[in-house]
Amino acid sequence: SAAEKDGHDWFMRKEIFEQPRAVADSLLGRRNAAGRLQLDEVRLSDEELRDIDKVIVIACGTSFYAGMVAKYAIEHWCRIPVEVELASEFRYRDPILTRETLVVAISQSGETADTLQAIRHARTQRSKVLAICNSNGSTIPRESDAVIYTHAGPEIGVASTKGFLTQLVACYLLGLYLAQVKGTRYNDEIAQVVDQLEQMPAHIETVLGQADQVYALAREFVGTPSVLFLGRHAGYPVALEGALKLKELAYIHAEGFAAGELKHGPIALVDDGLPIWCVVPPRGRDQLHEKMVSGIQEVRARGARTICLAEEGDTAIEPYADELIRLPKVPVLLQPLVAAVPLQLFACELATLMGHDVDMPRNLAKSVTVE
Ligand code: AGP
Repeated sequence: SAAEKDGHDWFMRKEIFEQPRAVADSLLGRRNAAGRLQLDEVRLSDEELRDIDKVIVIACGTSFYAGMVAKYAIEHWCRIPVEVELASEFRYRDPILTRETLVVAISQSGETADTLQAIRHARTQRSKVLAICNSNGSTIPRESDAVIYTHAGPEIGVASTKGFLTQLVACYLLGLYLAQVKGTRYNDEIAQVVDQLEQMPAHIETVLGQADQVYALAREFVGTPSVLFLGRHAGYPVALEGALKLKELAYIHAEGFAAGELKHGPIALVDDGLPIWCVVPPRGRDQLHEKMVSGIQEVRARGARTICLAEEGDTAIEPYADELIRLPKVPVLLQPLVAAVPLQLFACELATLMGHDVDMPRNLAKSVTVE
């Protein structure tokens, strides 16, 4: 009923709008009186964690994209090599696992068979397993050495939204926690990032305030056969996630690319009127922003219609953006928390306009309990 959905037409839309709260909840109580980070259930000693010399993140679908962001964050903060692997591929390639490997399994449901089988394999090799999960007491956390719960509340829509954002939060917290234990970052540096995370619910709210602009865009794109998504750095997994949302819900061909990869092939797809969403990185000391802008220039010169997500004050993007949606100014590593939101809104609205069942897309199940 509409009441269960808080007046929204779909659970998915309700869950998109719940994200400020969900992110705030997943950050709640993570610091003790002394200001040190503490996680839900970490049955691994500091000593065991200090010995970790490699992290392998395993997950499927949207959770896999959260894992890609985790790689950027954990490597940056902890200087430990991180691999990200699709759970369904993991066991079949004889992965190198030792007692010093931390396997991080990300699963909203905690019941995904591919992910479960992957952690069972990791445990036979004596690796440590930490689960990032949204369902208390589900199988994956029960079979892990440690758990960070995402505290998003039940997610009913088959398409993951608040599940994804809170997985990102858990990944950041894990990275910061490992940095704290390993001493790879100063405590005040860690505290500063946690402070920035605590500002994210308000930033997500700001992005949600632009829903009408995104819905207007969705109306224009009913009937489009294909949509591309470009990103770089932490914006690359966001591009992949935007494409997945559109495939799942609107059943249209969509692909995400790392913007630097365009010239190696995908740019051949670009034709008159092709919609391309561009996740523009914040302006910074590196060349990331400039390179993204020149990539956008390239596709636009070939006729693409560019829809850019760019931070407040970024004027360099204006000449190349056919549509411009503003994001709050946040650090590049945290940008997925705001950049994913318009893409969720877009997929939800486009699918609604096309008459699809947004909460239960064809051929899909909320938790995939078969391999
Ligand atoms: C997301 O919108 C999907 N429906 C799907 O990709 C999902 O993320 C994947 O099946 C993994 O599920 P899990 O997080 O419950 O393990």
